[in-house]
Amino acid sequence: MGDGMSLDALTDTVLARCEALASCSEAPDRLTRRFLCPAMRSAHELLASWMRDAGLGVRVDAVGNLIGRRDGQTDRIVAVGSHIDTVPNAGRYDGVLGVLLGIAAMDALRGITFRRTADVIAFAEEEGVRFGVPYLGSRAVVGRLGPAELALTDADGISVARAIEGFGLDPSATARAAYPPGQPEAYLEAHIEQGPVLDESGLGLGIVTSIVGQTRLSLAWLGRSGHAGTEPMRHRRDALAGAAEFIAAVERLAQADPELRATVGNLVVTPNAPNVVPGDVRLSLDVRHPVDEVRRQAVDQLRTWARDIAGRRRLTVRVDPIAESAAVACDAGLTDRLAAAVAAEGLTGVRLSSGAGHDAAVLAERCPVALLFIRSPGGLSHHPDEAVRREDVRAALSVMIRFLRLELDRE
Ligand code: GLV
Ligand code: MN
Ligand code: MN
Repeated sequence: MGDGMSLDALTDTVLARCEALASCSEAPDRLTRRFLCPAMRSAHELLASWMRDAGLGVRVDAVGNLIGRRDGQTDRIVAVGSHIDTVPNAGRYDGVLGVLLGIAAMDALRGITFRRTADVIAFAEEEGVRFGVPYLGSRAVVGRLGPAELALTDADGISVARAIEGFGLDPSATARAAYPPGQPEAYLEAHIEQGPVLDESGLGLGIVTSIVGQTRLSLAWLGRSGHAGTEPMRHRRDALAGAAEFIAAVERLAQADPELRATVGNLVVTPNAPNVVPGDVRLSLDVRHPVDEVRRQAVDQLRTWARDIAGRRRLTVRVDPIAESAAVACDAGLTDRLAAAVAAEGLTGVRLSSGAGHDAAVLAERCPVALLFIRSPGGLSHHPDEAVRREDVRAALSVMIRFLRLELDRE
């Protein structure tokens, strides 16, 4: 460790900072912090001060990613990070824990000038909640945020470009968020597991081998609104009843394959009144599987069922693709070195795959990535009761310090 705080003090600081960031929210009674909302600015203020305290120079890039830098002897960069946007009514650790661990690791390594430059990146968007499309922050860093993404709109009709402008940034400059070719040379992310594997194996840390592929679609079901008291059942073209039949089919399909996940998480019913037959329903569909071909087949099957259900009920259904990402393997060499750091700390880390999406999946287009998981007690995530154990956070921090010390100084 450098001349900074002890591992215990840094661990307590990380946990206290997770609490503090949870108060940067769009709602007073719950944690919701979407891409570039005013609460993200408050989060930036806190994070920037902590980054400076850790001896990092701070900048906000062209899409609102906050980046803390420790210059090395060269311009070759090792990046560490995660995201700081949240789902609605989120827990306190999804994303932010990885960012705060990165800052704490650099704090522990203060006073050392490495061969490589270190960047701690707080990605502004990973969840895909505000604009439907995930990974906007990391896409910008790898140079893949273009006009199509800038034109996406949120539920209020605000485009990504306008949101960037509203945050005081220049939407015509988003290309500048891209790292120079060949950089970073490696990316490390620490994240809560968000599932039950580590908790059920009684282990605090996991070493991720791959990140699941996912498809996001939007389905528009169109029927005809009518009077709830007078319209005979045989006359109805109830868009919500059709959507409900589809949702049950989605669940049935996913239940038939232990590795398939399919979720309808967002539903907009119009006119949404108790005495009106629903004429219009929009819903989101999120499908994931570690094997891309199985995911694609599941999506094709669901598209066919949607058309069948709509046809039988005299509805129309339109299916719009929103986003698709292939399954991604973490880099074998970097992952072995992460596993070696875990072992060198006297810890056991099980290898597992990730069912959640992570910024590392996008960074993998650019450079070798490694992903360290921290046990999620009860496997609970995307829920306000999301938790971590202090001993696991301490263990993750010790591993990250060791790993970064070596990676930053590699020949
Ligand atoms: C992010 O948490 C995701 O996996 O959707
Ligand atoms: Mn996350
Ligand atoms: Mn999440």
